[in-house]
Amino acid sequence: MKSRYVDPFTPDIPVSDPARFSGRRTQVELVVDSLYQLKHGKPTSTIITGDRGIGKSSLLNQAKELAQGDNRLPTRLKIDIGVQKYDFVVAWHDAAKDQGPREIVSGIMEDLQSTVATIFAKFRLELNLGGALKVSQRDPETRDITGVVNQFCTEISKVAVRAKEDGKDGVLIFVDELDRASPTSGIATFFKLVIEKLSREKVTNVAFFCAGITGAIQKLEDEHASIYRTFKEIPVPRLEQKETAEILRTGYGNAKCGFDESVPPAIHKLAAGYPEPVHLLGSQTLAVDTDENISIDDVEAAKIRTIETLRRNKLNSILRRAGSGKYQKILRAMAEYEGDDVPLTNISEKIGYMQNQYSSNMGNLQAREVIIQRDRGVYAFVDPLLKEYIKRFGVLSIEAEDDKDTL
Ligand SMILES: Nc1ncnc2c1ncn2[C@@H]1O[C@H](COP(=O)(O)OP(=O)(O)OP(=O)(O)O)[C@@H](O)[C@H]1O
Ligand SMILES: [Mg+2]
Repeated sequence: MKSRYVDPFTPDIPVSDPARFSGRRTQVELVVDSLYQLKHGKPTSTIITGDRGIGKSSLLNQAKELAQGDNRLPTRLKIDIGVQKYDFVVAWHDAAKDQGPREIVSGIMEDLQSTVATIFAKFRLELNLGGALKVSQRDPETRDITGVVNQFCTEISKVAVRAKEDGKDGVLIFVDELDRASPTSGIATFFKLVIEKLSREKVTNVAFFCAGITGAIQKLEDEHASIYRTFKEIPVPRLEQKETAEILRTGYGNAKCGFDESVPPAIHKLAAGYPEPVHLLGSQTLAVDTDENISIDDVEAAKIRTIETLRRNKLNSILRRAGSGKYQKILRAMAEYEGDDVPLTNISEKIGYMQNQYSSNMGNLQAREVIIQRDRGVYAFVDPLLKEYIKRFGVLSIEAEDDKDTL
């Protein structure tokens, strides 16, 4: 009988333990460089971008660990961090839906307050930005970004001075899920103005470290001052097969379970390079296994369990969200394609429409977060398991109608 084990896989939870963070050497290298620059008086604000679920928050977590002196990750990756260890004052805020500069600043200040209260004796921040927040909500039209920028810079400069006096490396402000911020709130302008003002005032030991979904950040970019000029970007790509294999090896190793050579490539293919389904399938292969060695049959059983039970409702609701008729035809054509990245020409061939007859459907499927554009004329499912789901259960009724819902 298989002995009991603690599930080493964590779908949906960003990795904070450096020992469980796999691959991503190039990105970690870039993170280290941002910290090194800031410590040496060249503040570099950074934004981690990538698809939903690709591992942005996990990388941001690693940046925070490193900024607070945990060198385990760069040591394991043999990356020279340039100093013995980092010692920054850090604040963390997860942006929530539709937040603007005021709400984000309030979140940062609250977190910073609790941090500085423990490291600096007798130090208080002026938190009455909360008051300004209430006023702004009454009169959203007169949101005054400059006012928020000035107040924020005043407070953050106090922390910066104190950090220097106490021999700290500087102040790093983490903002995750920046994609959720309201694109019309002026958030991009806020960052640009703060960074420029701090630079003018020679506050050289403060920087931001943000993360957000590529498409949404693009939206901020379109509507505001250039995000990409303000921030150094660290794009997080899909996992390479050896990175997927590393996640599985670490997980199976922790559960004291062996695995066949064929398992990592099979899971890599199902997960299409996304870490979240790797964790999910990793966890499920352990659940179905009976002999403490994961085989290709376990992968098949885990896949079926995942799409038929565990994720069935979620995948079905994505399918419904897509729309009926032509939308379903498109998804079926995409599921039937051999690879993960499906060229439009292939969809046209299968559904029998010219590209311009369904380009608006493709736009809607993206807006509904069912598919994403990978490249010019190349699309993929946001959730790679949807492909397996469609292969197993088919799409929703296609007959519904063909024209009503097309435009
Ligand atoms: N380098 C990594 N090594 C191991 N597991 C990882 C790694 N990166 C991400 N994961 C796993 O992948 C999943 C998604 O990671 P994470 O939450 O960091 O992604 P995200 O890009 O922030 O997602 P979202 O777009 O939903 O915010 C989690 O289960 C996490 O444990
Ligand atoms: Mg995240």
